Amino acid sequence: MSLSLDAPAQDAPAVADDGVWLECIACGGQFAPFDDVRFTCDDCDGLLEVRYAHPPTFDDFEGEGVWRYAAALPFEEGVSLPEGHTPLHEVPRLKEDVGVDRLRIKHEGMNPTGSFKDRGMTVGVRVAKELGVGRLACASTGNTSAALAAYGARGGMETLVLLPAGKVAAGKVAQASLHDARILEVDGNFDDCLDIVQDLANRGEVYLLNSLNPFRLEGQKTIGFEILEEFRDDYGTFPDRIVLPVGNAGNTSALFKAFRELVAAGAMDPDEVPALTGVQAAGAAPMVEAIENGADEVRRWDEVETRATAIRIGNPVNAPKALPGIRQTGGTAVAVDDEAITEAQRDLAREGVGVEPASAASVAGLRKLRERGVVDADEDVVCLTTGHLLKDPDAAYEAGGDPEPVANSTDAVLEHIGAE
Ligand code: F0G
Repeated sequence: MSLSLDAPAQDAPAVADDGVWLECIACGGQFAPFDDVRFTCDDCDGLLEVRYAHPPTFDDFEGEGVWRYAAALPFEEGVSLPEGHTPLHEVPRLKEDVGVDRLRIKHEGMNPTGSFKDRGMTVGVRVAKELGVGRLACASTGNTSAALAAYGARGGMETLVLLPAGKVAAGKVAQASLHDARILEVDGNFDDCLDIVQDLANRGEVYLLNSLNPFRLEGQKTIGFEILEEFRDDYGTFPDRIVLPVGNAGNTSALFKAFRELVAAGAMDPDEVPALTGVQAAGAAPMVEAIENGADEVRRWDEVETRATAIRIGNPVNAPKALPGIRQTGGTAVAVDDEAITEAQRDLAREGVGVEPASAASVAGLRKLRERGVVDADEDVVCLTTGHLLKDPDAAYEAGGDPEPVANSTDAVLEHIGAE
């Protein structure tokens, strides 16, 4: 199965373990899944994917949450808190305002540590146990570190996280700290932190649990399965489009992989696959640049800045998996400025859905594409919101109204609120 949307399932190669193996998306090199620790191809350093001889159909899924999709994962169960089974909110006023036929919000902020990273970690930490590695590590704009710390703690393993100093939202650092990760603040941006963690991993010092690790994306693939099942249960069809924020493009790659597997299993036609639509902050938009220029490679941005610190990333490592996903599904990518992100955060909050800034980028992007006529009025759309409002309390305070001081009496309160 190549990266093409209509590629058939493959026969298991000799290196496969129970129908599961690792394959390089660049040179096709195949490797046993759990014999050795590797994150990229031994031969050409390309990105690896987990491959299965028997991709599942919807009938193979049972139970709830990420492990409902065990038939599409390398194990039956993982280190679980548990995760997945997140709400697919209706937002009727926002839908009317944006002007699409249907709009639902898949709120991944409702996972145990408040972001979609938990779906990746339940699988990734399970694999780490299988491999018998010691210290787990990641570079992070915050959410990955919170999830790694929690799942590492749950699995009884040591965790090390590298964060860009001064650029990580307060809630995320608090989580990593309380779940007992060792936190190193690096004088550099996220991409610099990831370079260092990759070096440490290559030297055998740590097991890397960023989305460069192909097993992380297996867990995140379940977002796609859940959206398709829930949408079909409610409307009898799949959504036309899924709009999501993009940082390292892990989710974009993971959703594309979910769709490819369902197509290979005969559970879905290629023309039923939702258009993957990525949104980046204007100050950190290398994927958008590549899509707009029709480029096959993404140029690394050394200077990045945005209020949406979770996606303050200039070198999306999963771009070689994500670019074909966006193109083959008929999707696109768009950049939004910080003001539009904050406005979308308020829009969602007014519907009772509390998200962090990076998450709101999906809604800001949809609004922009609808205004430009790229998204049609008759489309059924799902926006992915990736992290909870409380992850970044400072951004929430800035986006919301100010508390009003009042004297300590009922009369003073009545007078203040202008009651009769
Ligand atoms: N939204 C949130 C809230 C995130 O935390 C991230 C990534 C993304 C979107 C982008 O997802 O990388 O799959 O395209 N956060 C990482 C971290 C980098 O370290 O927490 P992607």
